[in-house]
Amino acid sequence: MIKLEMAQALNEQINREMYSAYLYMSMSAYSGKLGLKGFANWFMVQYHEEMYHAMKLYEYIQRQGEEVILGTLEGPPSTFESPLDMFNQTLTHEQYITKSINDLMDMAIKMKDHGTQIFLEWYVVEQIEEEENDNDMILQLNLIGDNAHALLMLDRELSGRMTTVPVDFSKGVEGAVA
Ligand code: FEO
Repeated sequence: MIKLEMAQALNEQINREMYSAYLYMSMSAYSGKLGLKGFANWFMVQYHEEMYHAMKLYEYIQRQGEEVILGTLEGPPSTFESPLDMFNQTLTHEQYITKSINDLMDMAIKMKDHGTQIFLEWYVVEQIEEEENDNDMILQLNLIGDNAHALLMLDRELSGRMTTVPVDFSKGVEGAVA
């Protein structure tokens, strides 16, 4: 059992994770429009990761005997200036998500909610990886600059990114297979 205030805050995090999925889905669509199929793949894999993050919260709230309440989802931008712009926006967004996870952790600590602290540790570690991935991409795109050939080489590399998280949650997150 968790406190109602904690459950409400976790429900708000579902919305943030769903928005993340929506944002990366939009970036995938925009990459496809540019003919960058590898970038489109990278962002669609990221979309799946975000849905997984949302579903883990969904299941945790239910397992703790609280109610999942889904809020309105804001629409993401549909156009971007460049691949670099997409990754700059991705990093800024992930830094915002990191702060929201840290705020949730602070709340769980204040409430002496040990179960939620342990649950949130996974997200704390995940956010380090998310920001690192975005920083790596920004470094590479800055090196590439206006070199179309190098951009297409990177696009080919990004087409190899695979989804490693479950995508079918019909049997719950625990019962899902990657
Ligand atoms: Fe779920 Fe990208 O943070």
